[in-house]
Amino acid sequence: MEPEVSSSLEGGCRLAMNDYLKGDKMANRSSVLDRFGITGKVALVTGASRGIGRAIALGLAEAGADVALTSRKLPDLEAVAQEISQMGRKALPVSANVRHLPEIDNLVRRTVDEFGHIDILVNNAGTNPVFGSVFDVDERAWEVTLGLNLKGYFFLSQAVGKLMRDEGRGNIINIASEDGIRPGIGAGIYSISKAGVIMLTEVLAQEWGQYNVRVNAIAPGLVRTRFSEALWSNPAIRERTEDSTALGRLAEPEEIVGAALFLASEASSYMTGQTIVLDGGHFCSVRTLLSTISTGK
Ligand SMILES: NC(=O)c1ccc[n+]([C@@H]2O[C@H](COP(=O)([O-])OP(=O)(O)OC[C@H]3O[C@@H](n4cnc5c(N)ncnc54)[C@H](OP(=O)(O)O)[C@@H]3O)[C@@H](O)[C@H]2O)c1
Repeated sequence: MEPEVSSSLEGGCRLAMNDYLKGDKMANRSSVLDRFGITGKVALVTGASRGIGRAIALGLAEAGADVALTSRKLPDLEAVAQEISQMGRKALPVSANVRHLPEIDNLVRRTVDEFGHIDILVNNAGTNPVFGSVFDVDERAWEVTLGLNLKGYFFLSQAVGKLMRDEGRGNIINIASEDGIRPGIGAGIYSISKAGVIMLTEVLAQEWGQYNVRVNAIAPGLVRTRFSEALWSNPAIRERTEDSTALGRLAEPEEIVGAALFLASEASSYMTGQTIVLDGGHFCSVRTLLSTISTGK
């Protein structure tokens, strides 16, 4: 019996392949691209006024989503909202400090009042007020860093996750950092908070998969934004970072958008609990060693 089964399977595959070959290849190709589309979805992006959050908010809007934008300063958000409106999408700027639970509640309520539901949450707003030894970290720095980078991500995910559970679908993207995988020099509590974001991603993915809610993270290397300006504007640090990165350069915020769109769309429908590292080959790099070898020094 076995050969018959396999030959009929083979025949089926051949038929399907023939259909594909003589059929409309372009139609097949565009159906793959369609899986990256998010037309009609509603996204909520934190830290959307500048840097990585702004780039992701604009990218999601360009791919078809209406977007609620949040950060603390409303005028900055309004400028991004205007850019989104010019694309023909709806934008809702809401000022909120996502370290504070009442402001999280207000943000979620305003978004649902405007759009009815939330399909995609991007937890992005982050901070790193301390650059130096962990000996210099005081309680306030701990609370500001962990309060935004981890508590904020947790409680906003919880609030939006309840809505997604009730809808039976949803998608959460957490912006972590390569420092959450290996400690950044002088970035002790920041690294701790970002390691927490990666574990938060796995915990939520594990618990909420049953509700068809996917949760993934992106861990960027050094990206040229205001947040990291103290690093990339310092020639010695910049050179050292570029030398230890396979691509030999830093990232621009727009280079994080492709992964965010992949995660936000059906293109990643079987992916949850994962962290995509976008570090230009920083972790795998042997550039400094290679140049030493090639110059013989
Ligand atoms: N840039 C990098 O090299 C890099 C590398 C790895 C990971 N990351 C991560 O990427 C994320 C975005 O960083 P970025 O570089 O784009 O930073 P950024 O340019 O400084 O932007 C930070 C955004 O967060 C908002 N924000 C700050 N505190 C907030 C608060 N308490 N409540 C609400 N919004 C707040 C800011 O607006 P307001 O000031 O108006 O609130 C701004 O919109 C962060 O989670 C960061 O850890 C960055």
